[in-house]
Amino acid sequence: MNDPSPNPKNDSSVPRHVAIIMDGNGRWANSRKKPRHSGHRAGVKSVRLSVEFAAQSGIEYLTLFAFSSENWSRPKEEVSSLMNLFVEALRREIDELHRNNVRLKFVGALDELNPGLKEKITQSEQKTAANSGLTLTVAIAYGGRWDIIEASKALTRRVSDGSLQIDDIDDAEFAAELQMSDIPDPDLLIRTGGEQRISNFLLWNLAYAELWFTDVLWPEFDEAVFDSALSFYAGKQRRFGHTGDQVEAVRC
Ligand code: IPE
Ligand code: IPE
Ligand code: MG
Repeated sequence: MNDPSPNPKNDSSVPRHVAIIMDGNGRWANSRKKPRHSGHRAGVKSVRLSVEFAAQSGIEYLTLFAFSSENWSRPKEEVSSLMNLFVEALRREIDELHRNNVRLKFVGALDELNPGLKEKITQSEQKTAANSGLTLTVAIAYGGRWDIIEASKALTRRVSDGSLQIDDIDDAEFAAELQMSDIPDPDLLIRTGGEQRISNFLLWNLAYAELWFTDVLWPEFDEAVFDSALSFYAGKQRRFGHTGDQVEAVRC
């Protein structure tokens, strides 16, 4: 089972799932001679606007990388101000998200977060669980390698207790143990801030994502920049290992 697209007919020009690495807050603040934290605060506006634009554009899933496993290594003050910002932003935004029918989810090593933030996360997920609009997933304390290791442990446990045979492990069994198990793979990855790397984001899930990078720093990300990424995506032929002719033949 090495075909990530069992249905190559499904070639809508709008991505179903967009994932964003929101980078550049610190440099945005530095260039204004402000503390890094003010860059993170300014980034919240870009989150709000991205969620609204994604919903309007017919995107079904938006996944935002807010804090990586490796970001724990930042100075203590930056980490704690980020954690406080997450709590504050959730408190401020949750009612509006709910009104807009957004289903909010969190992925990552959430047990590593402080109890106040964990509680806010649980409340927000519960409040919006039945919503049928955009699914907004926020990755906090998330690392792609961590995710794969945790999935491997879960599979190993199932093999040990006899509920899974080693030879039955395939793409689907593996993916079902990952954090994003109930969400289709991202079609489009956007990274702001000028770097062209994955930084340990959704390593498994991004296998066939279209990648789009921009020098725009996250606090300056807006509808026009998002729209450029969508235009780039619309111009792509997604082949999933097939030939271009095969893809065309299925479409006709
Ligand atoms: C991204 O912005 C936000 C987080 C990683 C939490 P950065 O803080 O990495 O900003 P730069 O890359 O230093 O400009
Ligand atoms: C990636 O940004 C993580 C998030 C945006 C949350 P980083 O700023 O941590 O990535 P590197 O260190 O430049 O690769
Ligand atoms: Mg960065």
